[in-house]
Amino acid sequence: RLTSRPRASIITARIPVSPLLTSRLIADRNNSNITSKRWSHTAKWRPVQVLDEYGPPALRLWVVKEARPISLRQLMVFGRSLTEARLISSANYVRTELPTRIAHRIRDMQRLPYVVVTNPHISDVYELYYTAFDTFRRIREVKTLEDNEHLCKEISKMLRAHLTVIPKLAMGILECSGLMPAAELDHFMNTILRSRISRRVIAEQHLALTETFNSHWFSPGAKLSESEFIGEVFIKCIAKDVIEHCAKAVQDLARSANGPDTKIPEIRINGHMESSFPYILSHLEYIIGELLRNSVQAVIEKHQKSKDPSSNPPPIEVTLCEAPQHVIIRISDQGGGIPRDILPYLWSFGKGPLKNQRLENLGQVPLMAATLQELKVNDSKLTGLQSQRSGHDSSLSSLATRPPNLRLGMGLPLSRVYAEYWAGSLELHSLEGYGVDAFLQISKLGNKNEQLATRAAMDA
Ligand code: COI
Repeated sequence: RLTSRPRASIITARIPVSPLLTSRLIADRNNSNITSKRWSHTAKWRPVQVLDEYGPPALRLWVVKEARPISLRQLMVFGRSLTEARLISSANYVRTELPTRIAHRIRDMQRLPYVVVTNPHISDVYELYYTAFDTFRRIREVKTLEDNEHLCKEISKMLRAHLTVIPKLAMGILECSGLMPAAELDHFMNTILRSRISRRVIAEQHLALTETFNSHWFSPGAKLSESEFIGEVFIKCIAKDVIEHCAKAVQDLARSANGPDTKIPEIRINGHMESSFPYILSHLEYIIGELLRNSVQAVIEKHQKSKDPSSNPPPIEVTLCEAPQHVIIRISDQGGGIPRDILPYLWSFGKGPLKNQRLENLGQVPLMAATLQELKVNDSKLTGLQSQRSGHDSSLSSLATRPPNLRLGMGLPLSRVYAEYWAGSLELHSLEGYGVDAFLQISKLGNKNEQLATRAAMDA
């Protein structure tokens, strides 16, 4: 499998390679004593077997550890009766879980074709992950509240440093599509994004619990308030409220993107209006925001080409359905459906007929434009409904900070990653020439573990 090495030097000579990454890869390769059969079928295009069971002893030690998944219910139960001992135990969970989960992703990156892992954007992500891994693995057992403060500082620093990860991955993956099979690239992206969500959930949950604990601790006698949130978990997320809030943000965005005189479709909600469930609000806002954004834009564009563009466009109907285990949200639009040439690539991160347009857009990617969850870090931890309730005028999300017409093609696949992460699902049915029905299914009991393995990995 290493036979085509000379070709690798020709290819890699043409791309800028981080010296740190190169030396690390070489060191890791030299330490490697096990090879893998993975990729052997693709040896023709894969210039060099970089690494598999690689190098630095610290990484090898951590990569064999299993992640310990959590559920929303566990997060709530744990955070509900917060004591110093529980906070310390949460700290040690996060302290060991972060480097374990990052180590797994570093290994995945090392298994990418050399020409992909040395793409400047992907190698930046590799460096970020390596630094985070190395930082967290060195943090000693948390025994006191002071130890926890130190851990929290490191976590906050890393959360900020990693704000660039999604835009960098988006750029890297578009630039690398064609350098490895599209299905493998999508599988890699699904895994890395899901894992990233998981790390940010456990990191942010611990920060939120620490904040709650500290505010209680420093005002003796004060009772922990009956908050609607336990850490990051919104105990009673009312679907109708979230949809209304996202609908308004999406309609405002459409007005600013298409001009103030544009006819914007109404968004109507019907069905089980009381449906509620525990959820991480920013995850739901991201998914709903993306689905509504697609629907609104499609309806506007179709209506502008219709015989009577001065009439009102057809409304978007959102139906809520509460079943014993799930809440299902259907979003139906009459935006003409999904063009046939796009349909096969709907869930792909790097492939599709719009790839060139997406590549042209890359220059405009704002560094922070990833998800709501991320903006929170920069926005005093306030988003959408949270900020509304507390009287802050914080806009909803990535939607508001990214240029209105920017389409990176990440919205739908990333929405599905979010939906599946808490054991839900997202499906789209296109009625060609008429419209689209999107079905978002949410597991409403909060008792399902986070889903760290992707569908493809589970099928394998
Ligand atoms: C990420 O955002 O990619 C992370 O891994 C966050 C974590 C280092 C706290």
